[in-house]
Amino acid sequence: AAIEKGGYEHFMLKEIHEQPDTIFDCLRGRLLPQSGQIIMSGVDNHIDALKNAQRIIIVACGTSWHAGLVAEYQIEELCRIPVEVEYASEFRYRNPVINEGDVIIAISQSGETADTLVALESAKEKGAFIFGVVNAVGSSIARLSNAGAYTHAGPEIGVASTKAFTGQLAVLTMMALKIGYAKGTISEARYMQLMHELQAVPEKVKEILADTSVIQNIAAKYKDAHDFLFLGRGYNFPVALEGALKLKEISYIHAEGYPAAEMKHGPIALVDDQLPVVFVATKDSYYEKIVSNVQEIKARKGKVIAVATAADDVIPGMADDVMFVPDADEVIAPLLSTIPLQLLSYYVGLAKGLDVDKPRNLAKSVTVE
Ligand code: G6P
Repeated sequence: AAIEKGGYEHFMLKEIHEQPDTIFDCLRGRLLPQSGQIIMSGVDNHIDALKNAQRIIIVACGTSWHAGLVAEYQIEELCRIPVEVEYASEFRYRNPVINEGDVIIAISQSGETADTLVALESAKEKGAFIFGVVNAVGSSIARLSNAGAYTHAGPEIGVASTKAFTGQLAVLTMMALKIGYAKGTISEARYMQLMHELQAVPEKVKEILADTSVIQNIAAKYKDAHDFLFLGRGYNFPVALEGALKLKEISYIHAEGYPAAEMKHGPIALVDDQLPVVFVATKDSYYEKIVSNVQEIKARKGKVIAVATAADDVIPGMADDVMFVPDADEVIAPLLSTIPLQLLSYYVGLAKGLDVDKPRNLAKSVTVE
């Protein structure tokens, strides 16, 4: 088993550390900034259906649903197509409106999640075009889809999804870039810039993983907290949700993810000098706004743990603890800002002596409705 884990103590840690390679593998042969191309046959073969979509409905569960939320921001910005992100279990049972010209994107690591599968089956009966973003090759959802793109993250053993999530983000980013470029809703310059940004991701993830001692110390410091709040805005809002989910799954600490601006409508009532508040606060177009949100928490004596951009000197001056990530365009920032949060939950779970690879009550793939 030690060999299978490649010298790591747990599959989860191994899979977190595999991400420079799995993201690289996902981009390899597809993302070609030198020639200005992104080659994805599933997208190329159906480019008209995709770029002319009246609406894109993303259907998923769990961590895959969070990848869908990131894609919503990307597709709306880069392709100007309205996007809805649906929990498969809710979408399935409420007799959803599916019109001609709607495209469904299904996101699933396992390709076997029952809620997602049945949701897609009924959407397909209604004539929907289904594009699958799946990790497990040949899985049920991959077979049911009309077209698709694999995430190529390799087998994921840890119950909490890590490398499959970043693989999903990489595929969805390439799709948004391709569709936006084909549609003419992004300029050539922006398309090229984002291709280069995406190509730089594996190296930047490697930088984050090179030294995790700061994150281990933060985990040790906060491991006995009873609750955590995770806040982010824009592209980092789904990252906050994913950070909270990961912590719940691995450490059994209650955690809530929220859009940072929405906290004043409820969660701020929870803030006291005991509450750790994790801000995903990298340098992006929301930066000034999130700085004020950090001030609001500090004014109420909350403990602020920030994910901040390297060389930022404002947020680190305000936060109690900081985890740095390299600078990146906000469209691809989630691929980086999610990594410290994966490590934080891993190290909190480890510090609490829990079985991080097999958390209680959870299944890797939920094949019952
Ligand atoms: C389970 C797993 C999660 C996963 C979710 C959706 O809850 O524990 O890690 O995100 O199912 O799974 P899928 O395979 O469809 O992505």
